[in-house]
Order: sequence, then C-alpha cells, then structure tokens
Amino acid sequence: MTDPQLVLTERVQQALGTAFGSEYAGADPLIRPSQFADFQANVALSLAKRLRRAPREVAQAIADALEAGDTGDVFAGVEISGPGFLNITLQDGWIAAQALQTLEDPRSGVGTTTPPQTVVVDYSAPNAAKEMHVGHLRTTIVGDSLVRILDYLGNRAVRQNHLGDWGTPFGMLIEHLLDIGEGAALARLEAGEGSEYYQEARRKFDSEPEFKERSRRRVATLQAEDPETMRLWHLFMDATVRYFNKIYSTLGVTLTDDDIAGESMYNRMLAETCADLEASGVAVMSEGALCVFPPGFKGSDDRPLPLIIRKSDGGYGYATTDLAAIRYRVRDLKVDRIMYVVGADQALHFQMIFAAARQAGWLADHVSAEHIQIGMMLGADGRRFRTRSGESVKLSDLLDEAIDRASAAIAERGYDEVTRREIARTVGIGAVKYADLSVSHDSEYIFDFDRMLAFTGNTGPYMQYATARIRSIFRKGGVDPSEVSGPIILGEAAERDLALQLLGFGTVVEHAGATAEPHRVCSYLFETASTFTTFYEKCPVLRDDVDPETRASRLALCALTLRVLQTGLNLLGVPVPDRM
Ligand code: ARG
Repeated sequence: MTDPQLVLTERVQQALGTAFGSEYAGADPLIRPSQFADFQANVALSLAKRLRRAPREVAQAIADALEAGDTGDVFAGVEISGPGFLNITLQDGWIAAQALQTLEDPRSGVGTTTPPQTVVVDYSAPNAAKEMHVGHLRTTIVGDSLVRILDYLGNRAVRQNHLGDWGTPFGMLIEHLLDIGEGAALARLEAGEGSEYYQEARRKFDSEPEFKERSRRRVATLQAEDPETMRLWHLFMDATVRYFNKIYSTLGVTLTDDDIAGESMYNRMLAETCADLEASGVAVMSEGALCVFPPGFKGSDDRPLPLIIRKSDGGYGYATTDLAAIRYRVRDLKVDRIMYVVGADQALHFQMIFAAARQAGWLADHVSAEHIQIGMMLGADGRRFRTRSGESVKLSDLLDEAIDRASAAIAERGYDEVTRREIARTVGIGAVKYADLSVSHDSEYIFDFDRMLAFTGNTGPYMQYATARIRSIFRKGGVDPSEVSGPIILGEAAERDLALQLLGFGTVVEHAGATAEPHRVCSYLFETASTFTTFYEKCPVLRDDVDPETRASRLALCALTLRVLQTGLNLLGVPVPDRM
C-alpha cells in the first residue's frame, strides 16, 4: 500500500482505537488534501460530539496516539489547527521510498479486486433499424473505458453489445431491401446510410398499403424464423454490423463480433421468461396484457405502473427482452455485477427492470445491477446534437471531421504527409474520446470541436502532448524509461509534490472501477500532467549542471509519470502518439 491517503486512514484509525477504545477504530478519519500540510484529518470534529469532549482536546489525543504509534518513519509533523483539524505532514524520505516502490511495481500501485468479479458491461448497443447517433458514441466510449478499468483491476469484464436487431421494423426493412435489390441495399447499409434507409422504408410503409401489408407478413415470417426471411435478415444485419465495426475500429474500442448479444438472441427465451414470471406470480394479466407491477412505481394517476411483458396481441417488447437478458446474465454468465451504460432517459425502464428481476429472484442480493446513465450530447445551441440542417449526424462523418481538424491544428509542425495523417488520427480520435470521458457520464455536455481539440486544459490533446513531451526527454537523453531505477531524492518542493501526486494513482483507478466513473481518472491524469509541468519548469533533468544523483532521481520521477499517464490513458482507451 503506497497511497498516503490510505496509509493515513489506517494510521489514524489505529490511533482512534488507542485513544478512545476499539469501538472508535472504524470511524472514517476524513483524510483530505490540505493547504497547510500534506493532508488533514477532520475526524476530531465529528467525534467530539460522540465523545462529549472539546474538539481540540480530541484532536490532541489523536495526535499523541499517532506520534506514539509511529515508528519514526512516516510523519514529519502532526499539528492541530482551527477548531480541531489535524494537519499532517509526511517525511520526504517516506514519500521518496513509496515513489520508488511504485516505480518498481509494474502495476504502478494499482491493486486488484479480491475476489475478482464477473461483470457484464452492457454498452454501445446501437439500433440496426434506426441510426447510430452521438449518444451511442458516448455509451461506446464510456463503456469501453469501464471494461478496460475492470479488466485491469483483475476482474472478468464480459462485454455485451445489446444491439437493437429485432422486432417489427425489420418487416419493412427487409421488404425495402428486396425492393431496391440486395447489392444496392447492402452497399448503402455498409456505408452508414442506415437511417436514410430506414426513413425511406418508413415513408413507403405509411403511404403504400401494399408495402405495409407485405411488411406485416414479413414480420410474421421473421418471428417464425422462416429460412428465406432469416437469410435476408442476416444479410441486413451483417452489412449493418460491418458499418458498426468500421466505427469501432476507428475509435479503437475493444468490442468484437463475439460481444454481440443483440435483442434477437433473446427471442427464443421470451416465452419462457414470461411463463416463469407468471408461474411465480410476479406477472399478472391486466387488461389482456401480461404485466409486472414492481412495488413502489406509480403513474401520474397514482395507479401502480406496469411493466408490460406481453402485449394483448401476444407480442413482446423491449422490457421483455431486458428481463430475459438479466435472467440469462445471472443464470448463465454467473455475474456478480451488471452495468448498463445507457442514456439517462431510460432510467425509469431500468429501475423497473431491476425491481422486477429482484422480485423474480433472478437478481439475488449479492448481484448488483447499475444503470450508468449517459447524459445527452448537445449541440452549440444547447439542444440535441444535430447537423446544421437539422439531421442526425453520421458518426463516420463526425470522426472524419475530428481527424481533419486535428490535422489542420498540427499543420505547422513540419511533418510529412503520412506522419501528419497518423498523428492527426490519434489526436482527433483521442480528443473526441477524452471529451466524452472527462465530464461525469451522467451530465449533459456540448459537443464542441474547438474545445475538445484545444492543446490546453483538461483535453485529450493536452494529455497526449504531456505524454509525448516526457517521451522526448528520454529520447533526447538517450535513456530507456523502463531502465531507470532512481534512487529518488526529494530536494525541491516541486519534486515532492510530483512524487506525492503519483502515489495516488492506484486509489483513483480502484475508485473509478467501484463507482463506474472514468472521469475520475481524467481529472487525476490532468492534475498529474499539471504537477509535472511545474516540476519540469523548476527542475532541469538533462542540463549539464545537474549532478548525476539528481539527474537519476528526476529521471525516475519522469519515468513514473510517463507510466502513470500511459497506463491511465490506456484505461480510458485514449491513444497516445509517439510524438506530436
Ligand atoms: N438499443 C438501445 C437504444 O439505443 C439501447 C440498449 C441498451 N441495453 C439494454 N440492455 N437495454 O436505446
């Protein structure tokens, strides 16, 4: 354990036990970074009431116990200030030793979850029959970062791409495919024209009775899994998935075809799912439909809100599929935790699904189900993100534009065309991904190319630049960062600040995994890069007048910073160029 915040938590808890008895050892010491020392512990204020003693007196008792329990190697000073804060300063030598240990640890201080968990992460999930819009871009990017973080923490992350690939719209989509010819239809789907294609089919469905009738019949043969209809459905889906895969590969997300578990996959489980729910009494018939009324959900008229799982015409819906999916995930995939990385507008749906699955006994107490709400992406006008003419934005166009703009931004750096294109790809895609990740996933945010591509601030390009700059230090010095070994000596305040900052990486990653909040990693990396900048301004590394020990120590700090930034960006799925 190298994170000082954790070490202090443990030490202060021990001191609480010593000073006031073991029943106090579990209290949260409330360790926070401090302006006046390295950290402050605020626990004395909250304990004073419970102990019926003056807060400063309580603080003094904790300070005494802390110093008595220290073997002389951790604390440089423990002081009481204000109404009873404990200001704690750590020894330089202790920080340096922890930093060296972190450098020697290939995991840079990141622990592993014990015991490891099986975690389903349901993310991306575009709809084949509609459009893959910017909202899907965000669930794809956030979800992919979550699986990377969970895997890195030693868990088994099971990616589930719950594609919208089934249901009544497929009747008209297949008929439209026959009308315009297989070849032409597939070429268009593969090129990402799915939403135009859908709109054409929809127009015909609304205006041509004959087409409507054919589409209806086609839905029936699809439900019956008639071989010719299934062949056409597969053609349609394969072309669509080829387009999705192009986007995934441009984005560098880890989803593959093996992760596809679309709505169609659950089709055969729906009848059984309903039968189960009916047999256990969880689902009841109401006005001809089979419904679950999870406790605590009321409509605007104050009547219990139903989750309709089989309509009166016998058809199933989105909710039925999600219940079948949760049942499958618990029973067959044996999950400990399920994360649904889906738009915030589906919050009620998931609350009801989780409640129903708990009622049915599928979601046992030890399985957690979480809706990781994705906030809406807005345009500059503060409304849902659209093109100037009001259409939805094609994702491949959006990503191309990011790359073009990045290319323009680095135009003056004198790279040849091939290198420039390559850097522009990394910077453009990195900027889009980082922008999605750096704000908390449930807040709305404005999609703004200028801001995400800025080379200053908490942006992808800034983080990439910070990383590339440290690499160039090693290139210039002719040193391999993986061969640097210190020792670390903390002479300057800027060196000490950087070392202390680097010790916090493990806790941040663990916290991001526990709370499903990748933006915590972004904030931490941004602070780290800023702390490094100050260090690098104040502390020359390669200059001739730097003595060999100092140089070795500073190179060690550079190497650890580089590894923390690279590991962190990799957990976010943000690519890092070699140079920029
Ligand atoms: N296809 C859905 C949509 O675009 C998202 C599916 C999310 N996952 C789920 N298990 N419901 O809105």
